[in-house]
Amino acid sequence: MLILSKDDIKKVFSMKEAIEAVKQAFSIYSQGKSVVPLRININVPKYQGQTLYMPSYVDELDSGGVKIVSVFPGNIEKGMTSVQAAMVLVSEETGEVCSIMDGTCLTQLRTGAAQGAAIDILARKDSKVGALFGTGGQAAAQLEAMLTVRNLERVYVFDINKQRANEFAERMQNELADFGAEIIADAGVEKVLPLADVITAVTTSKRPVFDGRLVKEGAHVNGVGAYTPDMQEIDEYLVKRADRVYVDSKEAVLSEAGDFIIPMKNGAIDSGRINGELGEVISGKIPGRQSEKEITLFKTVGIAVQDVVTAHKIYTKALEHGIGIKIQF
Ligand SMILES: NC(=O)c1ccc[n+]([C@@H]2O[C@H](COP(=O)([O-])OP(=O)(O)OC[C@H]3O[C@@H](n4cnc5c(N)ncnc54)[C@H](O)[C@@H]3O)[C@@H](O)[C@H]2O)c1
Repeated sequence: MLILSKDDIKKVFSMKEAIEAVKQAFSIYSQGKSVVPLRININVPKYQGQTLYMPSYVDELDSGGVKIVSVFPGNIEKGMTSVQAAMVLVSEETGEVCSIMDGTCLTQLRTGAAQGAAIDILARKDSKVGALFGTGGQAAAQLEAMLTVRNLERVYVFDINKQRANEFAERMQNELADFGAEIIADAGVEKVLPLADVITAVTTSKRPVFDGRLVKEGAHVNGVGAYTPDMQEIDEYLVKRADRVYVDSKEAVLSEAGDFIIPMKNGAIDSGRINGELGEVISGKIPGRQSEKEITLFKTVGIAVQDVVTAHKIYTKALEHGIGIKIQF
């Protein structure tokens, strides 16, 4: 069994590779070529947390596994990330657990990559300005993915915690300097959001994080943070207004994402609002953006097949490069 730490994963696997892995995962999922039961979410009210058990099996990779991922929003005040996880990868040739890896790093990579895949496929090619809401544990990977797929000149970053947003912008300006983009905190949302070509929300918010009326024609928007029926980052106006709406999994989004469940309960939309899954666009089953003027919206709650496909590729590369620690029970 190969044990892989965050540093091991970073040594062998890039965001670009993660984006390709997630595109493959979405395509496999939407073609029904994986087994992905809805995840089991267990509430831990004592610490306002939740632990999710996410299993899946991907036949064409002979690979399966389960990610155990907890979301404890209070962690951020303790100097820890809200999302804590471990990935258990299973060889489905023998049923053996072949690897245990840092699931927190895996989650950041594959969640950034899901958003990166959506931007790559749906956003205008000439996108120059980005906006990112939420500067917590997932944000760095979101920003890196954004910059990997589009040649952005500027990205405005926002958080209800202004100090966190300022520190994030400063840190990212150094860490992601090679992309040559300016990372700006502390700009007025009303002033700069109408300039944004690509907008991503990755927060723990239970109410919309920006006014959808500020989104310009031709923009692409990603909702990444909300994953329970009472969480909502994208407002009802935008969910109704968007010209095309895509999701990672229709089943998962309709049962978990408040961004859709709340307006559906209010009668503002029905499930027909969703054009389809990103995997269906990737496999050519349905079209993506059709004009430069359309507003496209992508909602992801995260599906276990993203973890298995990405973890399988990380594991394979780590074996090739002799990275990680081998142990036997
Ligand atoms: N879609 C997926 O596959 C996926 C994967 C991992 C995590 N998530 C979800 O993404 C969310 C963010 O994860 P994280 O690890 O970055 O969390 P985090 O707690 O580390 O950071 C969340 C950030 O959002 C900010 N925030 C909260 N409300 C806001 C608002 N109204 N406006 C602006 N900023 C606001 C907080 O101040 C904090 O900085 C969580 O809900 C998590 O469950 C989704």
